[in-house]
Amino acid sequence: MNTVSIGEGFGRVNLIGEHLDYNGGHVLPLQIKNSIICEIVENKNSESISIVSDKYKDSLTVKKLEKRNNWADFVIGSCLYFDKKFSVKINNISIDIKSSLPLGVGLSSSAAITVSTLKSLSCYFQKNLADEDLINLAFKVENDFVGVGGGVMDQFVSVLGNQYEALFLDTFNKNYELIPIFKDYQFLIIDSNTQRILSDSEFNKKKELCLNAAKKMKIQNLCAKTKIDENDIQLLSDEELNVSKHVIEENLRVVKAAQYLKDNKAEEFGKLMTESHISLSQHYRVSTDNLNKLVDLSNSFGALGSKLTGAGFGGAIVTLVKKELVEELKKYILDGYPNAKFI
Ligand code: GLA
Repeated sequence: MNTVSIGEGFGRVNLIGEHLDYNGGHVLPLQIKNSIICEIVENKNSESISIVSDKYKDSLTVKKLEKRNNWADFVIGSCLYFDKKFSVKINNISIDIKSSLPLGVGLSSSAAITVSTLKSLSCYFQKNLADEDLINLAFKVENDFVGVGGGVMDQFVSVLGNQYEALFLDTFNKNYELIPIFKDYQFLIIDSNTQRILSDSEFNKKKELCLNAAKKMKIQNLCAKTKIDENDIQLLSDEELNVSKHVIEENLRVVKAAQYLKDNKAEEFGKLMTESHISLSQHYRVSTDNLNKLVDLSNSFGALGSKLTGAGFGGAIVTLVKKELVEELKKYILDGYPNAKFI
C-alpha cells in the first residue's frame, strides 16, 4: 500500500456524434488538457473517509459507502465499486479532489472525477487496473451508482485519448482508432457560461425515447439503421421519430467526418459540425438559445463550423477555426456575447 497516491482524469470535447454512444453509434471525441486530480492520503487515526474538493465548499466524512445525492457520489461510488472488485478495506483515507475542468458544461467532468478517483485508488492499494477494466468500472459508477445513463464515450476518451488525436470509436463493438487533428485549424471550446439545466431526467427521457423507437422497429439499437422508411414513420410517435432521425443521420455524419479528418478536409468537416448542431437543436431538441447564439456568432465570423458539445441543455460549443484567427474570433464573440468563456 502507498501512503500517498495521485490519479488524473481528463475531460473531453466531442467533435461530432452526440447522443450516439448509448445507441450503438460512432463518436469522435478529443481529450482536452483540463483535468481532475484525485489525491489520496492515508489517515491512520480515522475510521472514515474524508472527501474535500476545491470546487465545493463542503467537506464530507463518509463512514458507509452509500449514495448522498451530491457531487461526492462519483467519489463514493468509485470507492464502493473498487472495493467490490478488489476487496480492499477503504476506511482510513483522505481524498482531495482538485479540478482545472469546469464542472457541468458538457466537457465530461463526471467521467474525469471517476477515472481520477479509480486511478488513485489503484495506485494507493497497488492493484493493477487494466485500461479496459478502468473504463468499465468508471462507466458502472456513473450509470449504476450515480444513475445518469450516458454511454461509454467519456470514460473511453478520458483513459485512451490524447490532446492531439481524436478518438474515433464505434460504441457498438468498442473498436477505435486515433486520428490526428487538423494542423492549421483549432477546435476552440466556448462556454456559454449559463447554468446547465442537465436535468438527469431529461437526459434519461431522451435515452428512453431512443430505446423505445428501436424496440418498435425491432432493431438492436437505432444505429443498426441507415434510414427511416415509410413503415417506421407509421410505427413511431413524433418524439420517437425526431430522436431517431437525429441518431441515424448523425451516425452517418460521424463516419464521414472521421474520413474528412484523415484526408485533412477541414471545410467539409466544419459543415458536418454545423449540420450536427442543427439536428441537435431541431430533432433531438437539446440546444438552448445561448448555444444557438454562440454557434451563429462563430459561424458568421467565418469559423468552418460549430456545434454544441456533450449532452446539451446548456454548457459549451466547439467551433473549428483557422489558428491564426482564434484571437480575432474571441474578440468578436465577446462583442456579441460578453459572458462567453474560452476553454
Ligand atoms: C453525456 C454522456 C455521454 C454522451 C453525451 C452526448 O456527456 O455522459 O455518454 O451520451 O452526453 O453525446
